[in-house]
Amino acid sequence: MASDSLSTPKIVADTVIRNIGQLVTVAQQPIPGATGPLQVLEHAALAVQRGIIAWVGPDDETGPLFLQGKDASVNGTTIVDAQGAVVTPGLVDSHTHLVFAGDRAEEFHLRRAGVSYGDLLAQGRGILTTMQATRSASTDTLMALARGRLDSMRSHGTTTVEIKTGYGLNMVTEEACLQIINNLNAIEENEPRQHSGMRIIPTFLGAHSVPPEYRERRKEYVDLIVEEMLPSFVGLARFCDVFCEREAFTLEESRRILTRAKELGYQLKLHADQLSPSGGARLAAELGATSADHLDHASDADLEAMRAAGVVATLLPGCSYTLRSPYPSARRLLDRGLHVALATDFNPGTSYCENMQMILGLAMSAMGMSLEEALTAVTINGARALALQDQIGSIEVGKRCELAFWSISDYHEIGYHFGVNLVQSVLVAR
Ligand code: NIG
Ligand code: FE
Repeated sequence: MASDSLSTPKIVADTVIRNIGQLVTVAQQPIPGATGPLQVLEHAALAVQRGIIAWVGPDDETGPLFLQGKDASVNGTTIVDAQGAVVTPGLVDSHTHLVFAGDRAEEFHLRRAGVSYGDLLAQGRGILTTMQATRSASTDTLMALARGRLDSMRSHGTTTVEIKTGYGLNMVTEEACLQIINNLNAIEENEPRQHSGMRIIPTFLGAHSVPPEYRERRKEYVDLIVEEMLPSFVGLARFCDVFCEREAFTLEESRRILTRAKELGYQLKLHADQLSPSGGARLAAELGATSADHLDHASDADLEAMRAAGVVATLLPGCSYTLRSPYPSARRLLDRGLHVALATDFNPGTSYCENMQMILGLAMSAMGMSLEEALTAVTINGARALALQDQIGSIEVGKRCELAFWSISDYHEIGYHFGVNLVQSVLVAR
């Protein structure tokens, strides 16, 4: 064996990405040469083998490592030129309601005229308007709408997206929506667009609203969820979520549904304390939920219980923007030591936005987050909110290679240059 091959570590890589202007790793372990809380490497490169990051380091070290080493397969290695781009982990959108038909523009403008979201819900509009449109739509229509929305998300830098059901609210349409979500994932895996298949995580949210046919007998709807839907959907959904709210499901109903879900092996999420203090955050802590989302009205004691239980706090500023309600303070959560994630909550009622860059900008301008905190919230903490932090959300050896390429020369432009799309492409290596 030649001496240079003894002294030069060989890394087997099918892909090497070179000429990265700034690599914002968000690494959880220190990376040699990286600086700042986001562990940023200037003039960087990374190597990937079968979708897993094999090496991260300075661009000028890639030559000896991959191109001249006797054992490195130069011919079989694809070299990608990042052309000086800023590269971050692909963005993780951990809370969306992406499968639905119709829109609610009319209600949006009614709210501008003073009608509240709660009033509309109580009148049987809101979520139920979208339920009617979704129940009436064909699978093909729902699929086509969903694919267009995924493309929009991808074009803005998202590589992982959680999708909830919740506009079927009966056995047939909830199951159809779960099948659609699983089919979307299969399509993304097998026929990725531009080699960038998104990762899709399905969540069952049958407890989004009580459907009109059960209005006078809501216990029977909860029975249906607990006794029929949850057991039937094991394997189709990874998470079970509940809208725990005055206008939706009570604390006791939420506890019953989530307790059964946990017994059946679902991981848990909650829409907690969004419109009023519902006790949802406290319940998330009690049941060991992966995340509790919204949290506008969560008390200090409830947040403390969440922190102690390791529940991720997910903030959804698109709702405050749309409902023109006060933005929850991110500082209150961060200073308490909670892991804070940001997500779009993409839905036709309270946050019709696919763009995580917009959410990041709102969090910085209206919720007191620094750029570093916001970027952490849309990457590694989004991954935490899906219990995927060991696989995605940062650029480190051993993690999946899921990247966003930004058409900027310094990451400090993110959140500052607003209202335009700063992402040029994403890459999900397989
Ligand atoms: O997260 N809060 C409940 N669900 C959504 C709203 C869904 C809708 O209005 O259609 C939310 O804000
Ligand atoms: Fe939501």
